[in-house]
Amino acid sequence: MPKSLISLSQWTQEECYRFFESSLKFKKDKIINKQNGKYIALVFFEPSTRTRISFERAAGWVGARTSLLSSSLGTSLEKGESYEDTLLNIDALGVDQIVVRCPEDMDLKSIESQLKTPLICAGWGKRAHPTQALLDYVTLYEKVGSLKGLRVLYFGDIWHSRVLASHQELVPQLGIECGYWGPSLSNDLYNFRKFKNKKEALEWAQVVIGLRWQKERHQESWSKDFLQKEATLSSDDMVPLASKPLVLHPGPVGWGEEFDFSIKAYSENQILNQVSNGVFVRALLLANGVNV
Ligand code: CP
Repeated sequence: MPKSLISLSQWTQEECYRFFESSLKFKKDKIINKQNGKYIALVFFEPSTRTRISFERAAGWVGARTSLLSSSLGTSLEKGESYEDTLLNIDALGVDQIVVRCPEDMDLKSIESQLKTPLICAGWGKRAHPTQALLDYVTLYEKVGSLKGLRVLYFGDIWHSRVLASHQELVPQLGIECGYWGPSLSNDLYNFRKFKNKKEALEWAQVVIGLRWQKERHQESWSKDFLQKEATLSSDDMVPLASKPLVLHPGPVGWGEEFDFSIKAYSENQILNQVSNGVFVRALLLANGVNV
C-alpha cells in the first residue's frame, strides 16, 4: 500500500472490508492505541467544518498532538508563500502525518512525492476526498453489510463532486451499482444508469446519496426553478415507495436545493451518522497510517 492516502483505486475488496470492520470495531469498543505520541499537521488551505473537526477529534482519540493551519491568517501564506512551500516546510519540521485540504489547481500528487511525511488528503478540489468516501461506505456497511450489488442513486451535482470521484475509485472493487437522477449534460460522467424521472429512480434505489449543487464551480446555467422543483428530494417522494432507501449526504447539505428540509426528519436519514463514523475512520488512519 502507498504511504499516503490520495487515491483509493489500489485498495482491494479485502482491504476495504477489513478497514470497514476495524472502523466499526473501534466505534463499538472505543479502544485504540491512545499512547501513540504522534504529531500531526492539519493543513486546511480551504474551508471545512466536518473534516477539520473530525480529524481534530480523531487525533484526540489516538493520543496524537496536532498543529492546525486553517486559512492563511497568521501564516506566511499572507506574505505570499506558496502552498507547496508551506507543505515542504511542514515536512521539514518533522511531523508524523500531514492532513491536507487543498484547491483543484494544486498538484498534490507531485508535492506528495517530494515529502518524507505520509500525507492524507482531506479534500482536493473536485478530484478526491478519500476519507469521506471511506466513511460513507463504512456507514452503508454498518447498515446493510456486504455492498455487492447495492443500488446507489446519486442525486445532485455529479459534475463537481470530489466525493463522487473518490467513491468511483471503490465502486468496481465493491461491486456497487450506480444510478443518477438530475439534469443532463452532454458530458455526463461515469457509466451511471440514467433515469427518465425521479419516481423511477427512487423505485430502483436502495440508497440515495445527495451531492450539493456547487454553484461556486458552475459554468452551466441550470434554472433555479429546475433545481428547486425537479432536482430536490423530499420526504413526500418516499411515501409511495415499497422499500424506503437510506439517505446519505457528505455535507454541507443545500437544504431547499438538492434536499428539501423534510429530509431532516426522514426515518432513513443517515447524514449525522456519517459524520459520527468519520471520526472513527480518521482515527484509524491516524493510528495505523494507510495500513489496512
Ligand atoms: N464533507 C465535508 O468535506 O465537509 P466539510 O467541507 O465541512 O469538511
